[in-house]
Parts: sequence; structure tokens; C-alpha cells
Amino acid sequence: MNRLNGCIALVTGAGRGIGAAIALSYAQEGAAVVVADLDEANANAVADRVRALGVRADAVTVDVREPAQTAAMFHRVVERFGRLDLLVNNAGVIRVRSLLDTTPEDWDFVQSVNARGLFFTLQAGARHMLKQSPLAQGRPCGKIINIASIAGRSGRAMLGAYSASKATAINITQTAALELAPKLTVNSICPGAVDTDMWKQIDREWSEHERRPAGSVWEDRIRGIPMKRPEAPQDLTGMAVFLASADSDYITGQSYNVDGGLVMG
Ligand SMILES: NC(=O)c1ccc[n+]([C@@H]2O[C@H](COP(=O)([O-])OP(=O)(O)OC[C@H]3O[C@@H](n4cnc5c(N)ncnc54)[C@H](O)[C@@H]3O)[C@@H](O)[C@H]2O)c1
Repeated sequence: MNRLNGCIALVTGAGRGIGAAIALSYAQEGAAVVVADLDEANANAVADRVRALGVRADAVTVDVREPAQTAAMFHRVVERFGRLDLLVNNAGVIRVRSLLDTTPEDWDFVQSVNARGLFFTLQAGARHMLKQSPLAQGRPCGKIINIASIAGRSGRAMLGAYSASKATAINITQTAALELAPKLTVNSICPGAVDTDMWKQIDREWSEHERRPAGSVWEDRIRGIPMKRPEAPQDLTGMAVFLASADSDYITGQSYNVDGGLVMG
């Protein structure tokens, strides 16, 4: 398929997990992909896999908590590739803590990546997109996709800082959609319980807190999924490609649950 032919995409946190799956799916659709991550080795490895699919790729080591770094990253992308069509703000972190145990440092760490980092990465990417012409007459000049979470839809026990940061991501999506329309579209995806390193950390921290066997928190969560299986990173790529493609040009400010039915309404 070639739904993203000619597009230049940048995915943050693409060194593994959901971000890596989205980066590879964009490459399969013909986009050149910049793989941005805090982890240099992982970013390079995914960029190699992107190149193996026959499209151009770059790996960038970046900390999305640092606006100077993200601004420099976009300058490099535009210098090298000439434009930026798709930005996926996927980099994210979590800490499993009860409300009473959450420290100011826990709070700041989670917000600094998931909320503040997302906000300023979006801002820096949008500044470049707004300066360019659309790939085709009548189309938006760029598309931004934020990876939020179903945890951002309502409060979550043991995930207070994370849940608040993801509600912020959904809210930023709406503000950005309003301010940047009609030149850019901005939407978000809310994954459910995805089988990645992040969920391994959630299970470990939660099980330790409740003195339960390792793996049992994950098993309980999976049991509650209407689709009766864990979510794989690849379950998110259909929505990520749709929101990047011309098929979604009239959609902005929306947040879509892709969660096997965990959250409805
Ligand atoms: N796994 C899930 O169940 C789940 C559910 C809902 C939402 N999400 C969200 O999806 C996104 C990806 O999650 P995942 O499960 O693939 O996580 P993951 O921990 O497997 O991968 C996250 C990636 O982000 C990178 N990263 C972290 N901090 C960074 C920073 N400051 N700068 C740049 N890169 C940074 C990490 O190096 C890593 O490669 C996150 O935003 C997460 O909150 C995940």
C-alpha cells in the first residue's frame, strides 16, 4: 500500500513498542520516517528496519523534555528531508503510585514527558508544518497525532500522575486542533492495555505494591478486555495510518480509543 507516499514522518519514542510499530507501518505505506528516541541504540535499530522496507530513514536521539532539543531536531529534519508532514507524539513514561505515595518528583517526571514534552514538541513541529504548502491542493499542510491513553478518559487508581498527563494530552489535542485548523489536523489515539515494556513495568510496580505474584495484574487486565486478547502494538497501526492519510483530512480535534472495547462511550 502507498497511502503515505511522499510524506516525511517523525515519530517520538519510536525506539520500541507502539512508536516502533507506527514508524514501521508508515514506512510500509511509503513514508520516509525519522525515528526519534531517548535511546540511541534502539532508534538506530528501528531506523535500519525502516530502511530495509525501501524508504529513507533517520535516527535522532532526543529528550522530548528539552524544547531546545526538539526544536533542533525539527530543523535537522527539514534540512535533510525538506519538509515535515506527519508528527506522532508517542514518547511517554509511567509510574505506578498510589495518590498518597506520589512524590513531587514522580509527578514532575511524568508530566515533563507526557504533557509538557508533548506540548512543546507539538509546538515546534507545528511551526515547521505551518510554513509549508500542502502535498496536494486542498489538503492540510501537516498532521499531528498524539498518543494519549484510555487512562486519560477518567481518573485511575494507582495511576494519578499518568492519568492526569494523558487527560492533558487529550486536552492539548483539542486546543491545537482549534488553533491550527484549517492548515493542520491534530488528533489523538487512546490505546488500552498494550503488550510492551511499559506494561511490564506497570505489572512489576503494581504487583510489588500489592504483594501479588508477578504477571497477575496484567492477567487481570487482559481478562476484562471484550476482545479477549491483549492489545499488540500492531493493533494501533490501522488508526495511526488512517489519521496520517488523506482519508482523515476532515477529522480534527478527536481522540479515538483503540482498546479492544475496554472503554466505551
Ligand atoms: N503500553 C500501553 O499499554 C499503553 C497504553 C496507553 C497508552 N500508551 C502510551 O503509548 C506510548 C508508547 O508506549 P509504549 O507502551 O510503547 O512504551 P515503551 O515504554 O515501550 O516505549 C516508550 C518509548 O519512549 C521513549 N522515551 C521515554 N522518554 C522519552 C523522552 N524523554 N524523550 C524521548 N523518548 C522517550 C523510550 O525510550 C521508549 O523507547 C506512551 O505515550 C504511552 O503512555 C501505552
